[in-house]
Amino acid sequence: MLSREENAMFTRVGPDTPAGSLLRRYWHPIGPAEEITPEKPKKRLKILGEELVLFRDAQGRYGLIGEHCPHRATSLYYGTVEDDGIRCPYHGWKFDVHGKCLEQPFEPAGSGFKEKVCQTAYPVQEMAGLLFTYMGPNPAPLLPRWDLLVREDGFRKIVVLPVHNCNWLQAMENSVDPTHTYFLHAHQFKARGMAGGDYYYRPIEKLEFEEVRGPLWAGVLKKRTYADANEKETEAGHPLIFPNMLYAPQGPDLVIHWRTPIDDTHTYIVWMTFRPSAQGERAEQSERPPVEYLPQLTTPEGEYQMTSFASQDMMAWETQGAVFDRSRENLGAADRGITLYRKMLREQIKVVLDGGEPLGLIRDPEKNRSVHFEVSRGQAREEYTKTWSASYHDRQAG
Ligand code: FES
Ligand SMILES: [Fe+2]
Repeated sequence: MLSREENAMFTRVGPDTPAGSLLRRYWHPIGPAEEITPEKPKKRLKILGEELVLFRDAQGRYGLIGEHCPHRATSLYYGTVEDDGIRCPYHGWKFDVHGKCLEQPFEPAGSGFKEKVCQTAYPVQEMAGLLFTYMGPNPAPLLPRWDLLVREDGFRKIVVLPVHNCNWLQAMENSVDPTHTYFLHAHQFKARGMAGGDYYYRPIEKLEFEEVRGPLWAGVLKKRTYADANEKETEAGHPLIFPNMLYAPQGPDLVIHWRTPIDDTHTYIVWMTFRPSAQGERAEQSERPPVEYLPQLTTPEGEYQMTSFASQDMMAWETQGAVFDRSRENLGAADRGITLYRKMLREQIKVVLDGGEPLGLIRDPEKNRSVHFEVSRGQAREEYTKTWSASYHDRQAG
């Protein structure tokens, strides 16, 4: 259980909030690069409670700047993208990708006024077809080269989920809640006569959690021991990558899940899936993987479908409330992964508020060639993977 104050400290993401300051120290995905095209070189988006405009100027540089013009606050999204920046639709002030004001058409020449005005701007980098931004203080850490983004022995796919109407922490606490797979997933599938969750339909005998504190990444490793009638099996892996990612096997694929807070009550979720090639051979794939947008996870009547992992998880997270009031929860022994993750959050928020550098930032390019995670699959999961006829997202699409 958390006090109301501490719950607010963990869940609020705006500028100058404690969790918002921590989250701003990491790179976050803001969408597939292919969403920005020469025909539509701009996109409006909200990240960490800030209203922003993403654009690509005619020189091919990405900019992510505050949406509201510093002159009279009109939306720059409706502006014109030019060779070297974006021009406000109201009075024509122009800003480059760094937020520098380049022109103020109706101000006296040489007044020096444009040097006094600048717009909020954040760096944008593309990796594996995804655009990422960093909204914290300079110097920015390196954009981590997670192995799934840079491996060449398989195929990548980007999957964008419908926006989740809940606070980011609800999705993240689920990532250190390994018992939920039994009822929320396996049992729900079974109850509907569907295959897909059998692997998780086994009693869990033992749960272990291990805190990882670098050097390349920080987070929580989970280990669960299943106790079937005649076999025991321990499976380790599926790390929660601090502060807002999950790395998990999913059928034959390896998947990174990012949960980017849009604001306190909405979360943008995107996955990078990677299917290793059969013999580990190099796969020919384009620099930008295909992108799939998962359709709605609710029925036309507005109920959760409950027929896919994603809709089951969405139900669990959204029905906790837009911002789950953790002063009303009752945590048990099986919830200690959540307690451990909150301990890290509490500690790392304090580090940032005290002016320090939080865990899991990479600054050495040598160490950033490919950041790899060990995932140990138990025998049963190997079998399960072999019999898995279509990947999770293929099922979703079907
Ligand atoms: S409001 Fe943008 S130029 Fe005036
Ligand atoms: Fe789940």
